[in-house]
Amino acid sequence: MNFIQARGLVKIYTPKGSEPVHALDGVDLDVRHGTVRALLGPNGAGKTTMVKVLTTLIKPDAGTATINGIDVVRRGHDIRPIIGVSGQYAAVDENLTGLENLDMVGRLYHLGARASRRRARELIELFDLTEAQNRPVKGFSGGMRRRIDLAGAIFSRPQVLFLDEPTTGLDPRSRLSMWDVITSLVGEGTTVFLTTQYLEEADRLADDISVIDGGKVIAEGTADELKAQVGGQQIELTLVDDAQSETARAVLERFGSARPNASADGRNLSVGVNDGPLALERVLGELNRGGVRLHDAGMRRPTLDDVFLKLTGHLAIDENGEEAAS
Ligand SMILES: Nc1ncnc2c1ncn2[C@@H]1O[C@H](COP(=O)(O)OP(=O)(O)OP(=O)(O)O)[C@@H](O)[C@H]1O
Ligand SMILES: [Mg+2]
Repeated sequence: MNFIQARGLVKIYTPKGSEPVHALDGVDLDVRHGTVRALLGPNGAGKTTMVKVLTTLIKPDAGTATINGIDVVRRGHDIRPIIGVSGQYAAVDENLTGLENLDMVGRLYHLGARASRRRARELIELFDLTEAQNRPVKGFSGGMRRRIDLAGAIFSRPQVLFLDEPTTGLDPRSRLSMWDVITSLVGEGTTVFLTTQYLEEADRLADDISVIDGGKVIAEGTADELKAQVGGQQIELTLVDDAQSETARAVLERFGSARPNASADGRNLSVGVNDGPLALERVLGELNRGGVRLHDAGMRRPTLDDVFLKLTGHLAIDENGEEAAS
């Protein structure tokens, strides 16, 4: 049996006066011990709902889930001591200092005053918050709050750590330092289940990725396996004149292994191909014969963005809640 195992999880919300929402629509999941699993999906895909079910915060309407063989629904009190959770929105007491927040977590775990303080100080150091430790959290930046929250989640050295969008809203530098912290926890043998909207984050941190959309897992595998589904390589073109977009698209359609994608203005086109350089040569020859003028043409390995587009028919969402351009 896998360390985390879910079968047929269903969660239906029925908000007053509107249609029921199938937040989870029959989700299966297997996570091996000591690995990192990313649940990758856009807004509203069901990521937080999945985390809430696995961390005993809500009960599913159907299906089963176990962690280390323990039933999540029926034995919540045995699950809670072995898990740590850092929710989507940092759960910190604004009026307490960073150190006091962590000390409070220790008290909640019934650690003695000295043991609790010692662990709190250790974590303050680990998360690079020494200078800020005696300031109230209300003056902390988003990245600092996130770190205090994560420190609280690992306070009791849990076997499994659940991180719901650990880096959403962080600047690039804070994101990198969060990635380092997560990587070092994994090095110590913690099993990590994280949700993210960032393809790069899943690629960087996770051993395995489950892509979720509309409450369903629509693809699973390593980053490389998912990329392979899109085709070996991508041909990318930038046209001089968007009026030639249809002609170029028809050429890509003929030589590509999948449907070509185009930007809104039709000037940037891409398609997956199996026989990389040869396909590029043929595409360029054909475009030349058709008189299509190019700014740029090239080949690259597919990104997880390409995978997402292929699987869901829409692009992943960027920080502003808008569809990313590429
Ligand atoms: N308490 C609730 N009541 C009603 N509907 C809910 C509730 N919680 C979630 N939903 C709905 O269930 C679906 C899945 O929500 P969920 O929060 O799991 O998505 P998510 O993948 O975490 O999204 P995000 O990236 O925005 O955090 C959404 O359509 C959401 O509106
Ligand atoms: Mg969420």
